[in-house]
Amino acid sequence: MEEALQKLKAEATADLAAITRASDLEPFRIKYLGRKSPFAQLMRQLGDAPSEDRPRLGQLANELKKDLQLLFDEKKASLVQEGAGESSGIDLTLPGRMQPQGKLHPVTQIMEEICAIFEGLGFTVAEGPDIETDFYNFEALNIPAHHPARDMHDTFYVDDSILLRTHTSPMQARVMETKQPPLRVISPGKVYRCDSDITHTPMFHQVEGFLVDTNVSFADLKGVLSVFIAKMFAETTPIRFRPSFFPFTEPSAEVDIGCVMCKGKGCRVCKQSGWLEILGAGMIDPEVFKKVDYDPELYSGFAFGLGVERIAMLKYGINDIRLYYENDLRFLRQF
Ligand code: DAH
Repeated sequence: MEEALQKLKAEATADLAAITRASDLEPFRIKYLGRKSPFAQLMRQLGDAPSEDRPRLGQLANELKKDLQLLFDEKKASLVQEGAGESSGIDLTLPGRMQPQGKLHPVTQIMEEICAIFEGLGFTVAEGPDIETDFYNFEALNIPAHHPARDMHDTFYVDDSILLRTHTSPMQARVMETKQPPLRVISPGKVYRCDSDITHTPMFHQVEGFLVDTNVSFADLKGVLSVFIAKMFAETTPIRFRPSFFPFTEPSAEVDIGCVMCKGKGCRVCKQSGWLEILGAGMIDPEVFKKVDYDPELYSGFAFGLGVERIAMLKYGINDIRLYYENDLRFLRQF
């Protein structure tokens, strides 16, 4: 009997040591400490032992049971602590649930990138109202009533003198009216035109930029825009200035970059020309200075306006501007 008890103890201790998962604890308890365990059977046989041996064997059996229970409790505590305590109903080893994280819209990202480049060149940001007066949107920019240039804008009118701004250029007049040169300003924001197709949405974004000081020349304009294009696209991106017309700049130019898709060889995107138009620019017209009481003999300056969606389309190779505003997460998550 004594031998049987010792054997049982050795067996149980080895079994317990081999347990690594909390789920194996209960089967062990039933096997060795339960009512039908070999130990319980031995205890029942105690009555058959010679009476002089009974107290010693009884003590031995009780000690064995106590030892085993102690070892079992320790094991259980250590497994729960290690986080393997499935018995608590919580698996602490499972990875946590990820919090979904939103991202900035691609147009916002590009707009911030554009602003950061110009801020690096000493420009400050000035934002203005989306609902604008006819005066700032047109008159102050040398586009009087009935001027043919108004036709280019497909304006949404609120009433005779209030409209949704068709470009960010009104900020030129708004800033110049309140500040004196030298000025280096960029103005990002939403603009609106009654137009919708694969390359136009009724609302889109522009960044206007202008610099006013004494002795500003077209070479300064070219320098600033060259730095911007090199940083926005690639250092080696070819640039060309094409003569153009805007009522608020003289001379005016449209600026093209070498096609980012075909590298200038000619493709569908650049309509086989090898060039892509990315912005309008020019030297600020003296008429604009006169409207804000700047002396055109003393000051000169340049201005430019660029379309944010267009730049983002070229940069990311997107062929339909409407994708930006359909809120399809499969599209938006790529940026
Ligand atoms: N405001 C013009 C437009 O929306 C873009 C533009 C052209 C802005 C030339 C300028 C500029 O400042 O100099 O079409």
